[in-house]
Amino acid sequence: MRIFVTGGAGFIGSAVCRHLIGDLGHEVVVIDKLTYAANLASLAPVSDSPLYKFAKVDICDAPAVAALFDRHAPDAIIHLAAESHVDRSISGPGVFLQTNVIGTFTLLEAVRAYLAGAGKAKSDSFRMIHVSTDEVYGSLGDEGLFTEETPYDPSSPYSASKAASDHLAKAWQRTYGVPVIVSNCSNNYGPYHFPEKLIPLMILTALEGRPLPVYGDGANVRDWLYVEDHARALALILGRGRPGETYNIGGRNERKNLHVVQRICEAMDRLHPDGAPHERLITFVADRPGHDRRYAIDAAKLETELGWRAQETFETGLEKTVAWFLENEAWWRPLRQGVYGGQRLGLIQA
Ligand SMILES: NC(=O)c1ccc[n+]([C@@H]2O[C@H](COP(=O)([O-])OP(=O)(O)OC[C@H]3O[C@@H](n4cnc5c(N)ncnc54)[C@H](O)[C@@H]3O)[C@@H](O)[C@H]2O)c1
Repeated sequence: MRIFVTGGAGFIGSAVCRHLIGDLGHEVVVIDKLTYAANLASLAPVSDSPLYKFAKVDICDAPAVAALFDRHAPDAIIHLAAESHVDRSISGPGVFLQTNVIGTFTLLEAVRAYLAGAGKAKSDSFRMIHVSTDEVYGSLGDEGLFTEETPYDPSSPYSASKAASDHLAKAWQRTYGVPVIVSNCSNNYGPYHFPEKLIPLMILTALEGRPLPVYGDGANVRDWLYVEDHARALALILGRGRPGETYNIGGRNERKNLHVVQRICEAMDRLHPDGAPHERLITFVADRPGHDRRYAIDAAKLETELGWRAQETFETGLEKTVAWFLENEAWWRPLRQGVYGGQRLGLIQA
């Protein structure tokens, strides 16, 4: 297959490209604007392949997107391009609405026009995966899980913009028959993770021997999935998922944030004993405004209908991730020095 991957230079998008090209032998055209979050070094393992192509395009640029469909005639699109960091959405929500909502609208219209001019065989087989987050469902209490039927109740500008884009995707499927499948995944982590997100930020800050800032009381719960398990799930959904359906993706790995940071400290003590015990660096800082208390995904539909299973537990995935960051300073050092140095984002000034 020839697959468009929007946001392919980002964290999850690059894992999807490495899987589609490296493991499955598909042809991939990456469509990416190359924002601060993009890193072409994350595509280095596949960028020499004849199966790989790259287009520096903003998904909000309708003529440029249409030209890509004309030129490459794809069989599918996996849409991951987005602004993705909750703290940045609190500081500056405008770009989240632009890329996540208007960008998704632009892509949906491009797919609709492309399929209107394509033959029946292409229209019947074409798939668009709209990649979204569990954050659209809002916050859970101590019990219960998000299912595909859980009503949307987003809390942050980020999750509200993702919720809006999910609604557009479903509306374009029902109204125009655009063959969209929506996936809602829990928090990802793993190699090539931009170091503004919790796990890589804590690994690099611990490595520098600096205080590890835990928001609030550290009791917020997230459900963690190793990024390569997400990439495998998306490939499976692309091949076997049903248009118009939603699939929740999650690894059944609920952890309190404080617990996550403590496990990182333990892994650092083992793999990088200088500065141990790293747990002494943990400090509690002002909470994130609107911080959802708990997310937890019920992935039963994906597991029973498509036979997906996460291959990594939180413990095996975290160990691999810490080891990867320790071994790949050449990847993260330029980001840490030039793009984002670890300063606090997303506090509302009084
Ligand atoms: N990271 C997670 O834990 C997580 C969990 C569930 C779902 N998601 C969703 O998965 C997708 C990918 O997340 P990620 O963590 O890899 O994000 P990321 O921030 O690492 O990467 C986003 C990519 O999109 C590109 N991009 C941004 N605006 C663009 C535009 N206007 N046009 C073209 N490209 C643009 C960026 O350059 C970057 O390469 C997002 O839609 C996100 O909402 C993320």
